Amino acid sequence: IPDFPVKNEPVYGYMKGSPERKELEDALNKMSKETRDVPIVIGDKEFKTDNVKYQVMPHNHKEKIAKFYYADQKLLQKAIETAVETQKKWDRTPIRDRLNIWEKAASLMAGRYRAQLNAATMLGQAKTIIQAEIDSAAELIDFFRLNAFFLKEAHKYQPISEDAKVTKNSMRYRGIDGFIAAVSPFNFTAIGGNLAYTPALIGNSVLWKPSDTALLSNWIIFQICREAGLPPGVVNFVPADGPVFGDTITASKHLAGINFTGSVPTFTRLWTQVGKNINSYVNFPRLIGECGGKNYHFVHPTADPVSVVHGTIRSSFEFCGQKCSACSRMYVPESLWPKIKDGLIEKCSTLKIGDVMEFDSFTSAVIDDKAYKRIKGYIDHAKNSKNLKIIAGGKCDDSKGYFIEPTIVVSTDPLDKIMTEEIFGPVLSIYVYKDSDVEKTLSLVGSSTVFALTGAVFAKDQAFLKHALEELKMTAGNFYINDKSTGSVVGQQPFGGSRMSGTNDKAGGPHYVLRWGNPQAIKETF
Ligand code: ALA
Repeated sequence: IPDFPVKNEPVYGYMKGSPERKELEDALNKMSKETRDVPIVIGDKEFKTDNVKYQVMPHNHKEKIAKFYYADQKLLQKAIETAVETQKKWDRTPIRDRLNIWEKAASLMAGRYRAQLNAATMLGQAKTIIQAEIDSAAELIDFFRLNAFFLKEAHKYQPISEDAKVTKNSMRYRGIDGFIAAVSPFNFTAIGGNLAYTPALIGNSVLWKPSDTALLSNWIIFQICREAGLPPGVVNFVPADGPVFGDTITASKHLAGINFTGSVPTFTRLWTQVGKNINSYVNFPRLIGECGGKNYHFVHPTADPVSVVHGTIRSSFEFCGQKCSACSRMYVPESLWPKIKDGLIEKCSTLKIGDVMEFDSFTSAVIDDKAYKRIKGYIDHAKNSKNLKIIAGGKCDDSKGYFIEPTIVVSTDPLDKIMTEEIFGPVLSIYVYKDSDVEKTLSLVGSSTVFALTGAVFAKDQAFLKHALEELKMTAGNFYINDKSTGSVVGQQPFGGSRMSGTNDKAGGPHYVLRWGNPQAIKETF
């Protein structure tokens, strides 16, 4: 079994004139001028249906970069049959062969396909180069390498055999007989790779429904894995209408699990359908979901205002606040408010919002028309409410792309919906509290929303930090002290939240791959 590096993939700088910049520019130029035709793939066969869809560039929504097809119910049934058949053989593939495929895929992602993955993520999901590089290069490669490493490490644990001459006890990891449905989001190309391929690594077969708005980058991952030697049918690429996909997979007795990242209502719907059909399944389906957040920055009177401003601008507005970890509400003490307010307004005025192909843009457009309308709805609410005041941004324009300015809203009501509901866009809401109300405000953090994904506390007072760590214990699966709430790194800060943010299975941690395993304990007597 190869010895995988436990190091994270480095992030490239893309300086003007560098070879990686040239390669990326070539990929961007080529990709932005064509409409790639992306088929459905089931086993070793490609399919097209009459239900034709297009992926457009969010920053220039008249331009199509991919044409693809929704699988209908019949094709999804075929994919289920193929996956179930393939799983039996795939599960017998020696672990070392599987690990070799993952390492080969990671090397292809890190080398030959890095520019294509980044270009597809930039053009299709409107990420700037730095946001694409940390996602579709570094994080994606890390998921492949480190999950393989974690699986290899897990095999080192073997149960106690008291007298090895009489009894040998051992454990092996199997996949689950049936299939796993992976439903992935637009906001991280790497999450698509992780949701579909980590269950496959431990011996499962998968139906992968990529997001319509991350189609091209996800398709490139699929092609890379085929090239790396993944046998046909282990992962089946089936773009589909959400409810048709959900109804078909949950009606199959072979459903062994759902690996989901997306909205609370969709995950709830899938869970409800599984509940209704529970008596019909071969296995109890495993349900793993990451669903969203209303992530916070809590600022203590002893905090350093400069690092608060810097961290908050990055957390709230990088990638237009469309990271599940993005800061969307902040609590600031009155004593620090003038400095923090001036700092935020000044920074906002310098942020360049533009085309992803201009390498100096700080952000670009939000993902699609639906997101644009939802986010604009919250901004309109801020414009029309007595309790709310917009102090930066607020302009929206969808004539060419789905552009929304980074927007900061001050709320005198900590329970206004802008402070409690997930917006998933470049809108930061701030509640300014009296310095004497630290405790009261701290208790609002956990009680005012249903989520518990990420959170950050800024303070110099060490005793307060210790106290906050306990008081806020249940409010975040990823908790940051004197740092912004975004930017978890695979293997360094395993990621996930509880409450309505999800099942907290910690993607990028050593337990995640094992959640998809079906371990068998074997006692051998001589
Ligand atoms: N890894 C992403 C972040 O923490 C989700 O921002």
